Amino acid sequence: MDQYHEPVAELSPQDRDFVRALNSVKEEIEAINWYHQRVVVATDPQIKAIMAHNRDEEIEHAVMGLEWLRRNMPVWDENMRTYFFTTGDVTALEDAATGGEGGEGAPAGKPASGGSLGIGSLKGNR
Ligand SMILES: [Fe+2]
Repeated sequence: MDQYHEPVAELSPQDRDFVRALNSVKEEIEAINWYHQRVVVATDPQIKAIMAHNRDEEIEHAVMGLEWLRRNMPVWDENMRTYFFTTGDVTALEDAATGGEGGEGAPAGKPASGGSLGIGSLKGNR
C-alpha cells in the first residue's frame, strides 16, 4: 500500500506496527489541524462546539499514539524525557541534556555551551 516507502516485504512485523503507529499519529494531527480551522471559522455555535469537542478528542488519540511510540521506540522516550513537561527555552534543553555536546540533530557549527544554564544536572535525576 502507499503507506510504505520501502518494499513491505523487507519490513519486519515490528516495523509494520511502527508504520501503523506513525501513520495513525500523523492522521490524528491532520484531523486536529482541520478541526481547529473549522472551529475558528464556523458561525453556528453548536457545530463550533461539536467540532471543538472532536478536535480535542483527536488530541487524546494523538497522545495515545505518542505514548505507544514512547514505549516501543526508545528514541521517542529519550526525547520526551528531555523536552516534555519542561519550562523556559526549549532550544536550550538539548545542550542541557547533552552537556553542551549537541546531539545528532544539532545544527552544524552550534557552539557547545557546557550546560551553562545550570540545568544539565536534570538528566541525572531521572
Ligand atoms: Fe482520532
